[in-house]
Amino acid sequence: MAGYEKFRSITVVFLILCVSRLINAEEADACTTTFSNSTGSIPVTKFQPGINCTWRFNLTSNASIYINFKHTFSIGLGAALQILNGDNKPIATLTGPQDEFLAVITKPDNATIMFQNGNSPSYFGMTYSTTKCSQTVSWDAATIRSPYVPVDSGSVSCQYTIKTDNASFPFLSFSVFDFTKMTMEVFGKKSPASSSSDDLLKNLTGQSSRPDDIMSFANTMTIQLTLPLAQKQTGFVASYASVSQSCSGIYEIGEETPFFIPPFGNYSNNLDCRGMAYLNDTMKQRFSLTLILNSLDLGDDYDTIVVNDGGSRFSPALTTWKRGTTAGSVLVSSTGKLWMMFKTDETQTGRGVHFTVRPQGKPHVGRNANLWIFCANSFCDLLALAYVQPI
Ligand SMILES: *[C@@H]1O[C@H](CO)[C@@H](O)[C@H](O)[C@H]1NC(C)=O
Ligand SMILES: *[C@@H]1O[C@H](CO)[C@@H](O)[C@H](O)[C@H]1NC(C)=O
Ligand SMILES: *[C@@H]1O[C@H](CO)[C@@H](O)[C@H](O)[C@H]1NC(C)=O
Ligand SMILES: *[C@@H]1O[C@H](CO)[C@@H](O)[C@H](O)[C@H]1NC(C)=O
Ligand SMILES: *[C@@H]1O[C@H](CO)[C@@H](O)[C@H](O)[C@H]1NC(C)=O
Ligand SMILES: *[C@@H]1O[C@H](CO)[C@@H](O)[C@H](O)[C@H]1NC(C)=O
Ligand SMILES: *[C@@H]1O[C@H](CO)[C@@H](O)[C@H](O)[C@H]1NC(C)=O
Ligand SMILES: *[C@@H]1O[C@H](CO)[C@@H](O)[C@H](O)[C@H]1NC(C)=O
Ligand SMILES: *[C@@H]1O[C@H](CO)[C@@H](O)[C@H](O)[C@H]1NC(C)=O
Repeated sequence: MAGYEKFRSITVVFLILCVSRLINAEEADACTTTFSNSTGSIPVTKFQPGINCTWRFNLTSNASIYINFKHTFSIGLGAALQILNGDNKPIATLTGPQDEFLAVITKPDNATIMFQNGNSPSYFGMTYSTTKCSQTVSWDAATIRSPYVPVDSGSVSCQYTIKTDNASFPFLSFSVFDFTKMTMEVFGKKSPASSSSDDLLKNLTGQSSRPDDIMSFANTMTIQLTLPLAQKQTGFVASYASVSQSCSGIYEIGEETPFFIPPFGNYSNNLDCRGMAYLNDTMKQRFSLTLILNSLDLGDDYDTIVVNDGGSRFSPALTTWKRGTTAGSVLVSSTGKLWMMFKTDETQTGRGVHFTVRPQGKPHVGRNANLWIFCANSFCDLLALAYVQPI
């Protein structure tokens, strides 16, 4: 994250330096374009307080227009950016700092983008297309969201592509997920052994509760979303991080696969390791998922490990381990899932963290409700021996 913040502020400074010289003379012009082609753009521009802008669409076709605002942008204090469908109904009104977003215009005839200037500068730019609703993000980390769509007939399909650099994997966490109807599929590489990067990672079609985090074992992940336009839906907001390949993954824990991540040894600086371990639905009925802390050696107080009870970055926290935590503690998940994050800063390392995640037989209530019998004891012994991963 620290690296991302730096990158982001450098980008902002760069934008300001680049565009501030162009502003006054060209701003009025840039503000009054009528778009008549099937593709076009508003170049990324810093808009000084002063002129209001209106961009109009006057296309020869009646196809929907897909607008993609560029990462990252900001609408200044008192300013507002509004997208209006051809019937003059607002599709989206944006204020303040923004990550990126897609908007869909279904009535292109006389559709407009209006910018009401404010008391401080704004900067933004967009591209539009009439052929494809898509967004590609290739930053270290970013937030994506379902498109802004008008209430209309028909449906819209949008594709999101997340690209990370060669040393990382995209790890996606949903903060908002609220649909009444949609189809949504997430594709990527399902496991290190898979030969394809088009595996179905998760079919979220029809799901209404917040999904667990999703990781692709490749540098790309794509999300295919189809929304009916008949009623307004909140949709999704998700953020992704570029996580370290050496120590991140999502694993189903079977009967004989206790495992640990990340590798134990001298860990690197600037790691962002994320992992999720889960029991499948059958396993969950008979077993709890437990995590045993075998050993912990961290370089400084800024290297930390967070464990959540659940499958998401937004699940409730079980614990945070810092330097000085003693080994031996056992965590038990109430959800059959454990989510973890190991982050290291730019100095000092240690041997790391060594833990075992494994299914543990659940106590069964016998006829006498006071008598607890632990099932599968010999089985659990076997599990304890079934080893794992070389150091
Ligand atoms: C539309 O395309 C033509 C030819 O490619 C170009 O000259 C013109 O500037 C474009 N108009 C707009 C508003 O982008
Ligand atoms: C811009 O629009 C706002 C809101 O309609 C208005 O109050 C303001 O006077 C306009 N500014 C200019 C320079 O036209
Ligand atoms: C829209 O484009 C047509 C030509 O395709 C032109 O005749 C008309 O004047 C334009 N309308 C506006 C409002 O610019
Ligand atoms: C687009 O559709 C509207 C309403 O159906 C119609 O009035 C208009 O003539 C159409 N425009 C074009 C360019 O086909
Ligand atoms: C678009 O605007 C033009 C000019 O104001 C008007 O003649 C035309 O009827 C409008 N089209 C629609 C579909 O509202
Ligand atoms: C990432 O991998 C691609 C394809 O293998 C390669 O072309 C590219 O040079 C690599 N980039 C880096 C920074 O290693
Ligand atoms: C996802 O689930 C929906 C509904 O069950 C189904 O129609 C769709 O084909 C599935 N997608 C894939 C890629 O399997
Ligand atoms: C769950 O995992 C167990 C152990 O690996 C396996 O035997 C079982 O078939 C799995 N069930 C489902 C529904 O995947
Ligand atoms: C970790 O670093 C220490 C001190 O530099 C070194 O003695 C040890 O061999 C290293 N261990 C591994 C697993 O690399």
